[in-house]
Amino acid sequence: MKIALTPLVACLALAGHAAHAAEERAYVYNPADEARVKAMAAKLIGELTAKCPVKPVGDKTAFAACREALFASDSPLRSNLKSYVLWGRPPGGDIDATLKDFRATQFGNDVFTGSYAPMWMWDGKYDVTYIAKDRVFRVIAGAGFRNELDFGQYPYPFWHEARKWTDYEDANTIALWIDPKIMKVSQLTFFKRADKPAVAQLTRRHMPTFDGKWMWVDDKGQQQPAPTLFKGLYQDANPYLAKLDATYRKLALTMRDAECDSCHVPNNPDKAKRLVLLQTPLHAASEIERVLKDVRQDRMPLDDSGIEKTLPADLKKRLLADAEAFAADVKGAREWESEHVARSRTR
Ligand code: HEC
Repeated sequence: MKIALTPLVACLALAGHAAHAAEERAYVYNPADEARVKAMAAKLIGELTAKCPVKPVGDKTAFAACREALFASDSPLRSNLKSYVLWGRPPGGDIDATLKDFRATQFGNDVFTGSYAPMWMWDGKYDVTYIAKDRVFRVIAGAGFRNELDFGQYPYPFWHEARKWTDYEDANTIALWIDPKIMKVSQLTFFKRADKPAVAQLTRRHMPTFDGKWMWVDDKGQQQPAPTLFKGLYQDANPYLAKLDATYRKLALTMRDAECDSCHVPNNPDKAKRLVLLQTPLHAASEIERVLKDVRQDRMPLDDSGIEKTLPADLKKRLLADAEAFAADVKGAREWESEHVARSRTR
C-alpha cells in the first residue's frame, strides 16, 4: 500500500529514528489538508451512497452488491482505510467525547470492508469538521443498519448483548475519523443523532438468546457466520478455502488451550480499550502476523493483571506451528484470489 508522505514527514523519515518523533509530534491544522479531507470524504461517501444506498433492510441482493463493491481492493473506502481500523460506539453515546476515551474493536481493513461496512446503507448526507482537541477530521454521515439479514450474515452475534443490538438498530449516523498525519480513515463510530430522522426504515427485531457460540452450524448444516469463512468474499473455487477452515479450527483449539479466548472475544471480558478479535477465521486472518510476532516475542498471552504470562514450552511450540500453518493458508488464499481476479479482469 502506498501512502503519500508529506514533504515534512518524508524528510524526517530520511533522518532515521527521527521519524518516530514525527509521529509523536502534534499535528498542526492547515486549510490545504482540510481541502484534501473534503475531497476524500466526497469520494468515500459518493461510493458508499452509490454502492450501498438505502433499501429495504432485508434486501439480500443489495447487501451482497454492497459487500462485493467495498471488499474489492480498489474500492475507495478500502484503499482509504488504515491497515487496522477502530470500530465501535461513542462512550455514553457522546460523539464529542475525547477520542482516546472511545472503547473500540480493531480490525484489518479487509475484515471491516468485507463484513462490517456492508451492514450499513448510506443516504449521502454528510458534513466534515476539524476536531481541534483530538487533532483529527471527522466526517459525520447519515447511515442506517440492515437489521433483517440472516443471522449468519452478521460477522458475529451482536445480540449477545441486547443493548448492543438495539444500538445498531437505532443508529442513524456513522462518523469517519480521518487522521491528517497519514490522510487515512483510522476509526469509525456508529451512533444515533437525536435531531435526525432514521435512515433505515426498520422495526425492532427480536433476536434469539445468545448461547455462547461465536460460530455455529445452521439447520442446513452450513457453518456460520458465512462471511467469516470468506464465503462471498473469496471465490468458491479458491482451493485454500477448505484448508483455511481446517487450519483455523486447529489453531482455535490451541488458542483455547493457551487461553487467548479468555480475552480476545467480542464480549471483551478483559475490558480492553482496543479489542483484538480472534474468534473466527476472518478475524484471525487479519491478525495472524501480529499473533506470530507477539507469541514469538512472549508478548502474549497476558495474565489477569495485564502482565505477560509464560506459556509452557510445548504449548508455545504448538501454538506457533498452528499459527504458521494458518498464516500460510491465509497467504495462499489471498494470492490465489488476487491472481484470479487480475486474470478475470484482463480477460
Ligand atoms: C488477560 C487477557 C489477554 C490474554 C489471555 C491474551 N491477550 Fe492478547 N491482548 C490483550 C490486550 C489487553 C491487548 C492489547 C489491546 C490494546 O491495544 O489495548 C492484546 C493484544 C493482542 C494482539 C495485538 C497486539 C499488537 O501486536 O498490536 C494480539 C495479536 C494478541 N493480543 C494475541 C494474543 C494471543 C495469540 C493470545 C493467546 C496466546 C493472547 N493474545 C492472550 C489481552 C490478552
